Amino acid sequence: MYERLGQRFRQIMAAQQFLSTIKYVAGTKPSFQLSEIAAYLEEPLTIGQMYAALQPHLDGLGLGAQKTGEDYTISRLLPSLPYILNAAEEKRLEAYLSLSSLPSILEAAIEQYITGKTGKDWSDPILLERLRRAIVAQKDDYWKPADKRSLHYTKGYAVLGYLAYHFPVYFMQARHMLAQLAREGLLKQEMTILDLGTGPGVIPLAIDDFWMCLDTARATVHSVERSKENIEAFGALARSVATNNPQVTLKLPREADITSPGNVSLPDLIDLMVFSNVLNELAGLPVAARADIVMNYTERLAPDGTILIIEPAEEATSTGLRVLALALKKRGLSIYAPCTFVWGTNCTPDRCWSFQTAPSLRPTRIMNTLAACNEPFRYVNTDIKYSYVMLRKDGKVRTSCHIPKGTKTLRLSKIHLNVGKRVTVVAAKMSEDLGNAETHIFRLCDGSAEKPVFAVLPAFHIMPSNRDLGSAPYGTVLEIRNVLVRYNPAHDAYNLLVSRNTQIMPTP
Ligand SMILES: C[S@@+](CC[C@H](N)C(=O)[O-])C[C@H]1O[C@@H](n2cnc3c(N)ncnc32)[C@H](O)[C@@H]1O
Repeated sequence: MYERLGQRFRQIMAAQQFLSTIKYVAGTKPSFQLSEIAAYLEEPLTIGQMYAALQPHLDGLGLGAQKTGEDYTISRLLPSLPYILNAAEEKRLEAYLSLSSLPSILEAAIEQYITGKTGKDWSDPILLERLRRAIVAQKDDYWKPADKRSLHYTKGYAVLGYLAYHFPVYFMQARHMLAQLAREGLLKQEMTILDLGTGPGVIPLAIDDFWMCLDTARATVHSVERSKENIEAFGALARSVATNNPQVTLKLPREADITSPGNVSLPDLIDLMVFSNVLNELAGLPVAARADIVMNYTERLAPDGTILIIEPAEEATSTGLRVLALALKKRGLSIYAPCTFVWGTNCTPDRCWSFQTAPSLRPTRIMNTLAACNEPFRYVNTDIKYSYVMLRKDGKVRTSCHIPKGTKTLRLSKIHLNVGKRVTVVAAKMSEDLGNAETHIFRLCDGSAEKPVFAVLPAFHIMPSNRDLGSAPYGTVLEIRNVLVRYNPAHDAYNLLVSRNTQIMPTP
């Protein structure tokens, strides 16, 4: 028996060595003969054996094979083209994003799942009370320091509470992220997508739904999740909602720990890799270890692929994301969005609390029913606020900013030397309005500031020349001329006071 096990082990090792060799050679030239590989192998294989071992992996490796005599020509498939939205798709997308409700089929699928899983109608008072407890416990856990949390999703009600409370908002924010990728040309005609820590399938289900806006794009979505309860929920929801849209193939999640996936088979040449609300759950791991985990997966990313990390907007997780993003930048990835490094420096992210907002979700039937109690606010989760970063390994960035020569522009790293002076800065708008109707406040960043910087615009100073501050989308780089620098000791931050003489315009 030991001999048979030893033989099996050698076979597995030989197969792994063979595939690594293929990957290596395919990375060095666009096409080669399969027979060329034989010279690299420790265990000799015939061409027929090599082809049989390679054939199931061709798609995942982004390779094609053509029989040439006794041999095979192996060629890299051309990278899929960027998917550019046509006018009809743009219009459809706009209408899609204006929808504020969870798709009714998905809402019904969640209700059915809760009913099926508990054997009681989802609106049963006892069940509702258990859901309330699960939601409160999950939220309490979230506010604990990372190493004190116990977010395991191993018990049924933890997942049901998640479906009732978190799923709807995370699904809606995924729509906005996918729309941004589509509008910025980061989707492709044919896409391989990997969602890590997929939970009950928020991202894959959002992709299935979103791709209905696209005429011809196709996607295959793979995912990894460690909780069986979540995998079960994902399977059930996917079966209930499956749009039968031939453009999207949802693969069942692989059960694995994303920190050490072992031999789990994952696709190569991934066009979009998503970590949605999961990296902050790797409680206790220092930022360097989390960065290592992401970097390990980048080996599987297509050269023109995108990594999307999304985290809740809450201050600790949001700031943690910026710290992680900088660690990944230092390891060689480029931050495509939302940050712009105007001066080419690295930033000081420790106090960078920056998040995107979108119109609120309409409460679901379950939220409304849960809210029929003494503390309704605890069970209605409708704010769409999230922090995100998009990373690339090809150096691509959304906005590359060049300060015109001769322009007197202040780096925000020197702002402390200019208190009381009027200055010109070039910086990205990194928040929506944090103020109120009388005073509008927006976070600014040029990638060089050591302390938070805000633009402060009193309502009575709003003029056509400075209106862009309020109307520019999150992440837009603005040139801001003639603002007064003030230090705010209460927050250890700097304010740029915008007046009617201040000119603000997006940089070209
Ligand atoms: C907050 S949920 C996010 C689910 C989904 N991505 C979303 O955005 O709604 C976090 C998920 O990550 C999973 N998770 C956490 N740590 C994990 C790990 N080390 N390996 C695999 N999955 C993990 C959890 O089981 C859970 O399903």
